[in-house]
Amino acid sequence: MSKADVIVGIQWGDEGKGKIVDKLAQEYDMVCRSQGGHNAGHTIWVNGTRYALHLIPSGILNPKAINIIGNGVVVNPESIIKEMKQFDALKGRLFISDKAHLNLPYHSLIDIAREKLKGDNAIGTTGKGIGPAYADKINRIGHRADALLNPTQLCEDIMNYFTENKVIFDALKVEVPKKKELLAELENYNEKLGLFITNTTNMIWDALDADKKILLEGAQGTMLDIDHGTYPYVTSSATVSAGACTGLGIAPRDIGVVTGIVKAYTTRVGNGPFPTEDFGDAGETMADVGKEVGTTTGRGRRCGWFDAVAVRHASRLNGCDQLSLMKLDVLDGFKTIKICTAYEVNGKIIDYVPSNMNNITPVYEDIAGWDSVVGCRDYEKLPQTAKQYIERIEELTKTKVGIISTSPEREDTIIR
Ligand code: GDP
Ligand code: IMO
Ligand code: MG
Repeated sequence: MSKADVIVGIQWGDEGKGKIVDKLAQEYDMVCRSQGGHNAGHTIWVNGTRYALHLIPSGILNPKAINIIGNGVVVNPESIIKEMKQFDALKGRLFISDKAHLNLPYHSLIDIAREKLKGDNAIGTTGKGIGPAYADKINRIGHRADALLNPTQLCEDIMNYFTENKVIFDALKVEVPKKKELLAELENYNEKLGLFITNTTNMIWDALDADKKILLEGAQGTMLDIDHGTYPYVTSSATVSAGACTGLGIAPRDIGVVTGIVKAYTTRVGNGPFPTEDFGDAGETMADVGKEVGTTTGRGRRCGWFDAVAVRHASRLNGCDQLSLMKLDVLDGFKTIKICTAYEVNGKIIDYVPSNMNNITPVYEDIAGWDSVVGCRDYEKLPQTAKQYIERIEELTKTKVGIISTSPEREDTIIR
């Protein structure tokens, strides 16, 4: 019986999970998404061609791998149908859990309307309906993927849902679709997706029993976790490694190696606390060189230095066996690199992440920079100062850096 290895985001998302999942997936039989929805944007570059994935797991470029969208994901049918057009012959390679909840167009309208009402206090969501779709699931008024197999019944159920929740739709001035339009839409979803909907939990158990290699692909990042992130500026799912179990129906003892994906600096898109954000030239350089623009929304990402306090905390939360340090090349040419080693809160120095991350002043240590690591594929060939930076990260985060990434391309990766 095999174990499932986990890839998890350690910061505020966009760490480079897609690149590493794609790279490692060449050696795996199955790749599974367990949470999130089309708020995720995972970018893969192979020989100059770019792929941007939102719901389809990043194992899809290995023609031999099976890709699973687990019960913990909220699936927007329109979005996945669009995404599927990029790939041929998905039948038998892509499966959607019959228990995954549907994220339908009205969820997105509610999301956007709520954000608008919040004004200055908006979360800065992707507007993809993630919060409202998960809220319906927890509220036990959601609709699951298997319901798509009977569009007439689902249409009835959704029309009843509109009636029961009329006060909310009216208050938010969200217009609901007419029955005829809705039915046509659901019939289209059934026609395009029906074939892919199945009991994925059993598929994963069978794969584990048959000793297959399974990789679980996290979306978002630890600091956006619904429980452990910077609430309320978080997403609506359990982004930590433990979430992969409930989101797929596998037991903790079935989990193998946990790899935390972390940028060599930090970024965040959307609102909320970000202690090491840099508003000066350094942050601007990271944004420019790192091309820090969101894959899903096209919004600019806020940038800043590596926060070793947050990464140590995240590594412990996820039980990371190793970190994969991404975008080291983006720091090329910096004379000095800062690394946050502690927080100052109300005049007190602390070395842990408090539940309220407002009003933190980072304590920095300076590290000498290097000229260039871009495209490097050999640890021994890295400049001495880059190695020192990596070793300092290992010390401060109490986690081994097992993988280093030096460009967006699949092969520009060092496995130590
Ligand atoms: P994800 O959401 O964690 O999969 O990350 P995204 O794909 O949203 O954002 C990461 C971005 O960084 C993508 O544009 C990747 O192509 C790019 N990227 C990944 N690894 C590297 C790297 O080592 N160096 C550089 N320069 N870019 C990278
Ligand atoms: P990947 O998988 C970065 C952020 C949004 C917002 C907050 C809530 O590509 O790393 P939501 O739409 O989920 O309700 O928004 O979470 N967010 C992400 N930030 N990467 C992501 O995914 C994200 N998915 C959501 O910007 O701050
Ligand atoms: Mg992303």
